[in-house]
Amino acid sequence: MRVTVNKIKEMKQKQEKIAMLTAYDYPTAKLVDEAGVPLILVGDSLGMVVLGYESTIPVTMDEMIHHTKAVVRGTKQAMIIGDMPFMTYHTSASDALYNAARFLQEAGAQAIKLEGGVVVAETVKRIVDCGIPVMGHIGLTPQSVHQLGGHRVQGKTPEAAERQLKDAIALEQAGAFAIVLETMPAPLSKLITQKVSIPTIGIGAGPDCDGQVQVISDLLGLFTDFVPKHAKQYAKLADAMRTGIANYASEVKSGTFPTAEHGSTMDESLLKDLARS
Ligand code: KIV
Repeated sequence: MRVTVNKIKEMKQKQEKIAMLTAYDYPTAKLVDEAGVPLILVGDSLGMVVLGYESTIPVTMDEMIHHTKAVVRGTKQAMIIGDMPFMTYHTSASDALYNAARFLQEAGAQAIKLEGGVVVAETVKRIVDCGIPVMGHIGLTPQSVHQLGGHRVQGKTPEAAERQLKDAIALEQAGAFAIVLETMPAPLSKLITQKVSIPTIGIGAGPDCDGQVQVISDLLGLFTDFVPKHAKQYAKLADAMRTGIANYASEVKSGTFPTAEHGSTMDESLLKDLARS
């Protein structure tokens, strides 16, 4: 049985911290699930860390569905959350509903995430009313990076902080089951966490959120184009991969790979007959 929305809300009530991680493929999702991480986000961050785009903006629904399917196949316990890409929930409520439903029907996810607060509250309500759990996302919302003027800390002025609080309350009232708080001052995320009854999941938002989320490629040192300030590297996979790849290439060149143990043999007499024919 997978983790449910009720379980996640209950974790806040019991003051149990919630770990969430992104995953984009079958083998990684399997490892995250086996580690007991209750929430897996198939984030549109895959645009940068898997597909090599400069931002999340070019990511399409079809790309998200493709990766979400793989993550679902690799997992048994975690709740899988599909991230709605840029402009797939703004054009109309029916577009939003159609695209949200694709994550559940086609890809097998259990919930969706979308960016924005007051502005998307009605859309969130419509999706939730149709039976699709929604996770909100406020603070630094990467799909609005051009509007925000870059990857900046959000909510630093009194007006901006009040806007973030209003966004969080609007999402709660619209029926979101949790909210990601990205790149905002720790005291503000603490206040929001106290003011809303649903769990807050922080990324670059300090230690007082109900949970934390990280991009797995940052956490494991796999994506090295840039390392965000909020990321802690628990492993150095890119270094391990570089070493493995270089060793393989050099052994092929020198003829030390493969050896007999990596192949198979055949009946010598058959080979002789073949050579004579
Ligand atoms: O796309 C993503 O990975 C995200 C997380 C950073 C929350 O939205």
